[in-house]
Amino acid sequence: MNPRHFTSLLDLSCEELHRLISRAIELKNNRDPGYQPLKGRVLAMIFEKSSTRTRISFDAGMVHFGGSALFLSPRDTQLGRGEPLSDSAKVISSMVDCIMLRTDEHETVTTFARHSRVPVINGLTDLEHPCQLLADMQTFFEHRGDIKGKTAAWIGDGNNMCHSYMHAALLLDFNLNIACPSGYQPLPEYVEAARERVRFFDTPVEAAKNADLCVTDVWASMGQEEEQKLRQIAFKDYQVNAEVMNAAHKDALFMHCLPAHRGEEVTAEVIDGPQSVIFDEAENRLHAQKALLEFLLCSK
Ligand code: CP
Ligand code: NVA
Repeated sequence: MNPRHFTSLLDLSCEELHRLISRAIELKNNRDPGYQPLKGRVLAMIFEKSSTRTRISFDAGMVHFGGSALFLSPRDTQLGRGEPLSDSAKVISSMVDCIMLRTDEHETVTTFARHSRVPVINGLTDLEHPCQLLADMQTFFEHRGDIKGKTAAWIGDGNNMCHSYMHAALLLDFNLNIACPSGYQPLPEYVEAARERVRFFDTPVEAAKNADLCVTDVWASMGQEEEQKLRQIAFKDYQVNAEVMNAAHKDALFMHCLPAHRGEEVTAEVIDGPQSVIFDEAENRLHAQKALLEFLLCSK
């Protein structure tokens, strides 16, 4: 039987995503060290890019569940020397129970999934970051209940996080207001797919109007370091600051996947202020991914 993969949030049905969020909250609130559904199972984690949260949360999650995780970098595996992805996927998946990949090209993850006999998880690509959305949505549900019918405002780069927010809006039925500088809009195919849930605005304040959640991300993602200067100019009016938060609902939450640059995409006042839930959001990577691992590896 073909394994279930998680290369995109859209690999889940609405019902499955709801179930994962509830399960993540349950696992967080009732930690039972005796519950070890992944005893003896191994997760291979392939990181072609840096990570703090993704690496630690997957590793700790596997240990909590009685299993273990292998950290693999292309620098010291044959992947970095050009071994074909299809061969690597076949070999690695013959030895482990699940594979997580963080890479530039989204196609690397989908190719791996095609050739793997075990579940493949997208730990971030240039196009999507679905694991982060599991944690973000868990965080919203914990603080405010169901997000259905609510409004989230995405401010800044139309990047991998923005794309996965569009998927979340589709699956969980919320409205997504987007304000990105021109030239930095999300890709048309993502916009097209989420058309009924997404609206575009010229300024962050307009996008944030009546929002229940304001979200942003770095102006230059991993791999775009050389564009930093150019982007600082393009994004200078796309900062989440007090004025933007004031346009949103009084009880609006602020989220950021982290790492953040205070003074660029968000002011210190907002990210360290009372509406910010960034540390719950970061912690929830652990709980949400435990729910995901259980779903992919233990479902009958
Ligand atoms: N948010 C996130 O994915 O963090 P890391 O890059 O530290 O894994
Ligand atoms: N958009 C960011 C997210 C980091 C978690 C990046 O791709 O670098």
